[in-house]
Amino acid sequence: MILPIFTYGNAVLRKIAEPITIDYPKINELIDNMFDTMYHAEGVGLAAPQIGLPIRVLVIDLFPLKEDNPELGDFKVAMINPQMLEMSEDEVTGEEGCLSVPGIHESVSRALKIKIKYFDTAFNEHIGVFEGYKARVVQHEYDHLEGNLFTDKVSPIRRQLLKSKLTNIVKGKTSTSYKIKVA
Ligand code: NI
Repeated sequence: MILPIFTYGNAVLRKIAEPITIDYPKINELIDNMFDTMYHAEGVGLAAPQIGLPIRVLVIDLFPLKEDNPELGDFKVAMINPQMLEMSEDEVTGEEGCLSVPGIHESVSRALKIKIKYFDTAFNEHIGVFEGYKARVVQHEYDHLEGNLFTDKVSPIRRQLLKSKLTNIVKGKTSTSYKIKVA
C-alpha cells in the first residue's frame, strides 16, 4: 500500500523516534508499505517518521542507482531499531535530497564510514559496516529517527537561501509526483 509522505513542517519529523518491540503488530506489512511508498516516490530511502510513525524503522534500496554504480545496486535493507556504533572522522561531501523536503537538493558533509547495529524483520541482530554512498544514505535515514533533516546540516548561508523554499513546503506550495501530507 502506498502511503502519503509527511513533508517538512510536520512535527513527527522532529521527534526522536521510539524503538519497537518484537510484538509490534504487522511489522512485515509496515515494511512492505514503506518500500512501496518509497518506490512509488522514486526515492532510495525512507524512514518511518516520513509516513507519520515516530518509530525506529527505516528502509533503503539503491537498485535505481545500479546502472551507473553496479556496486550499489544490490544494497537493499530494512533496519529496525538501528543504533549507530561508529562514525569515521573522515567526512565526504555529496548531494542529497529527501522525499519530505521536495524540490531541494543540497551538498551535505557525512562520515565516510560507519558501523551500525540493527535488527531485521525477524529481529535478528546485524552489524553493518558501510562506506561512501551507502554510508551516506544510512546516515540520512538514521537522522530521520533522531528528528534531524538534511537541511539542518547545510551551511548557515545556504540555509538562509533555503528559507523561503522551506516555508513554501510548510504551506503546501510544492509539487510532487507522489501523495504528501502537509503539516
Ligand atoms: Ni529523507
